[in-house]
Amino acid sequence: MDVVVIGLGFTGLPTAVAAARAGMTVLGVDASRERIGEITEQRPGCGRGTVDEQDLGGALASGRLRLRHSADGIPHSGTYVLCVPTPADHRGRLDVSMLNQAADDVARSMRPGALVLVQSTCAPGTVEEVLLPRIAAMSGLRPGLDFHLAHSPVRTDPGNVSVDTVPRVVAGHTPRCTELAVRFVGRVADRVVPVSSPRAAELVKVFENTFRMVNISLACELAALCRAQRVDVDEVLAAAGTKPYGFLRHRPGPGAGGDCVPVSAGFFTASARRYGLHSPVVDAAIAVNEAMPAHTVHRVREALAARGLPPLRRCRVLVAGVTYKPDTANVRQSAAVRVLNELAAEAEVAYHDPYIPELVLDNGTVLRSQPVTAPADLVLVMTRHAAKDPVRRADVPVFDCSSGDPVEVA
Ligand SMILES: NC(=O)c1ccc[n+]([C@@H]2O[C@H](COP(=O)([O-])OP(=O)(O)OC[C@H]3O[C@@H](n4cnc5c(N)ncnc54)[C@H](O)[C@@H]3O)[C@@H](O)[C@H]2O)c1
Repeated sequence: MDVVVIGLGFTGLPTAVAAARAGMTVLGVDASRERIGEITEQRPGCGRGTVDEQDLGGALASGRLRLRHSADGIPHSGTYVLCVPTPADHRGRLDVSMLNQAADDVARSMRPGALVLVQSTCAPGTVEEVLLPRIAAMSGLRPGLDFHLAHSPVRTDPGNVSVDTVPRVVAGHTPRCTELAVRFVGRVADRVVPVSSPRAAELVKVFENTFRMVNISLACELAALCRAQRVDVDEVLAAAGTKPYGFLRHRPGPGAGGDCVPVSAGFFTASARRYGLHSPVVDAAIAVNEAMPAHTVHRVREALAARGLPPLRRCRVLVAGVTYKPDTANVRQSAAVRVLNELAAEAEVAYHDPYIPELVLDNGTVLRSQPVTAPADLVLVMTRHAAKDPVRRADVPVFDCSSGDPVEVA
């Protein structure tokens, strides 16, 4: 076995398929039997928008990619790639439990000379302070001498399967670790950007996501300022976007979600606190982001009152599009779901999303996706999927909230 990829989700499966396509023999390992089943059967959508499902079929048919449940053990391999989730705990710090579990599984299986490449997004310091001593203790091997350890965070854009063209940052514990990791990543990605240490690589990933969070929150503040002055925020952003340097356009929205942006901003502030530093800019961006769903619901209330429509508490509201971004079957930290939870406190709620058949609200209510024509007094479009049925209804008011502000759709 050339490579074992641990965790076959949005980021692990594309790595496994790319390694197989590059001619390596790959074992994909996952802790979920359901996940192994859907990939083995190549159920439509199992590529989660990050893998070309034809490429996946080819890799499986060639025998270069095989799959296994983690409980069935991990075989010896030259390279282990860790792609397990790294969520935040309630204080924004990294919940390292799944990463530790994967590291332990690897440490039990590996032999001298192996490379362990951590692709999961990590809070600064995780790779060398947490994983390195853990793997060394459990395997009895010396890091940098008997085994190699490196970090290469992933820049995946779900919905876009050609991520192998995106440059990959790589850093090892020692120059030799970096060399081996660059060699592996160079076979699955077009461009590799080595940096001096795993900590630097961790900071690159955390910073680039935090940058997005700060700028999305800033765009939300601009939207409020434009509204107060009756100026079209899109006009301002489009014109500002013509500046050829020093400006990068971000759009306002109902709140940034997903696995990366809000989680990384939390890692940033938790890391700052750890070093006795303040991060007021990032703290403010997080606060703006957390307030956006309530703000959106408040703006919907205002819009209903301004149009003489019944208040929310007398409405059945159909929310259209609940994923955190268009055309991606992922509701993690989705602003649309947070809006649904806010609405559920005062209105009867339902949702429509062809990507998400079922959704559990914070109050335990289990909702099933309804047709877009389902009975409702009001439709709120939160996430606009490009490829699936657009929301068109003549019988009830439709408000598009995908920019964070309700705009009535004619
Ligand atoms: N999803 C994205 O767009 C994205 C982008 C860049 C970086 N990342 C980062 O990549 C990492 C993985 O995220 P993802 O979105 O691919 O996760 P995911 O939830 O899509 O998939 C993770 C898989 O790992 C499996 N798993 C969990 N613990 C395991 C274990 N101990 N052994 C084997 N399998 C295990 C789960 O069953 C799941 O199938 C995270 O750190 C995330 O922040 C994600």
